[in-house]
Parts: sequence; C-alpha cells; structure tokens
Amino acid sequence: MSVADAQTSTDSLGGGNVPEHVAIIMDGNGRWAKDRSKPRHAGHRAGVAPVRKIVEHAARRGVSYLTLFAFSSENWQRPRVEVSKLMGLFVEALQRELNSLHRNNVKLKFIGARERLQNRLCKKIEAAEAKTEGNSGLTLIVAVAYGGRWDMVNAARQLAECVAKGDLKADEIGESHFSQALALGGVPDPDLLIRTGGERRISNFLLWNLAYAELYFSDCLWPDFGEDEFDDAMAFYASRQRRYGNTEKQLGIA
Ligand code: FPP
Repeated sequence: MSVADAQTSTDSLGGGNVPEHVAIIMDGNGRWAKDRSKPRHAGHRAGVAPVRKIVEHAARRGVSYLTLFAFSSENWQRPRVEVSKLMGLFVEALQRELNSLHRNNVKLKFIGARERLQNRLCKKIEAAEAKTEGNSGLTLIVAVAYGGRWDMVNAARQLAECVAKGDLKADEIGESHFSQALALGGVPDPDLLIRTGGERRISNFLLWNLAYAELYFSDCLWPDFGEDEFDDAMAFYASRQRRYGNTEKQLGIA
C-alpha cells in the first residue's frame, strides 16, 4: 500500500487514539552489526530499510508528523570513518528515496545545525525541502546534527536578538515565543517518543518538545524494527491516559 492512499487504516488500534506526532530515537545499529561480526556502518546501512517501512506505516496509521533522530550533536565525536560513512548514507538515501517520498505526498523537513554539514548534503536537503514543500501528507522531519540543548540555546539567541532590536520586551517572552523559536516551531509537540535498542533515556533529543510525550522503549535494535513493533508502540500509546498535570476528576474520567 502506498503512503498516499493509506492514511486512515487505524483498524487494529481501536481507531481514535492515534498520536498526531511520533518521534523516534533509532538506536542499536552498531550492536546489530556487531552481532553479525560486521563493521558499524553495515548496521547504519541496514537501518535505512526500516526508515522507509516506518514512514509508510506511520502514514497508514494516520500519524501526521514523524520525527527521526538520525545524527545527534554528540555523534560528531564518533570515529571519522563512521561519521563520513553516515553522511554518505544520508546523501545516498535522499537521492534514492526523494522521488518516491514526493510521489507519496510526504513533506520533508530537516532540523539541526545545518552549517556543520558538508555542502553536498546541505544542497540535497535544501532541494528535498523545496521539492516537497507543497505536499500535504505525512510530514517527515529528520534530525541531523541535532541536539536539544543546541536547539534551546539557538532559540534563546533568536529571542535575545529580537529584544536587542526592540521587537520584543524581555518580560513579554512566554512559552509560545520560545517554542516558536525552536527548530520544530509551528509543529505540534510529539505525543509519543519511541526509542529502540534497549536504552531508557532521551539523549538530548527534543528536550523542550517532549515535555508531555508518552515514552515507549523497545529492546528491538533499529534494523530489526518493523510494522509490528511500531504497532506495539501505537497500542501502548492508545492505552495511556494523558492528564497534562490535571487530575482524573478534572478531566471527567474518575
Ligand atoms: C544509532 O545507533 C543510530 C545512528 C547514530 C544513525 C541512525 C541512522 C540510520 C538509521 C540510517 C538511516 C537514516 C536515514 C534518515 C536515512 P548506534 O550506532 O548508536 O547503535 P549502538 O547503540 O548499537 O552502537
């Protein structure tokens, strides 16, 4: 089934309670490769197929925004060959998948410190965003060279500049100004965070935006993550009661 004609099939999940925005920390590529006595980059390469599968499946389930953590601010510290192979893989995957994503009405957006990326990747990113800008299906957001702290410092800088220019008063700054200045400004906060690979931490991903997200940790290594594992996460989400700091009584569910 293509992404375009698959938006509403939420059958096995009880229909209604589908997260509008799912964020995923794709972890475990290195261990997947190690288990097979392969180099780490073989694990990253094996991680591309589940990206394609989960993009299609998330759209099929009615998710509107999918944000994938592909490369963190801290990942620059990895061995040079691994970083360089990963960057090459991003270029290659974009080149190969862009037409199909576009055909399926997917809108692509990248977040992160773009100025740190190689020119050839930046150019591909800009072209992909421009080509898919008018699409109205799933919004796929890829975080590359992204860190939650980098994002917040960046937002603080932007607001400080507005204050310095006299466009905003410091005591007028509220949560909405701050969240608008973040990389995901204008995008609803993730409802569900999935982390694969068995670790139970957020690792400097969307620190502000995940404030009320439901957290789902899977032991499955990313290259093995598929539709069934995604549906397990969706079922977990559907079973959660989101109170945003209110009591059950206030929400009329006691
Ligand atoms: C974390 O696993 C994974 C990454 C740092 C890279 C993620 C990249 C992909 C899944 C490739 C495809 C992505 C796109 C967007 C086309 P790890 O290396 O930390 O694994 P480990 O914890 O087992 O060492």
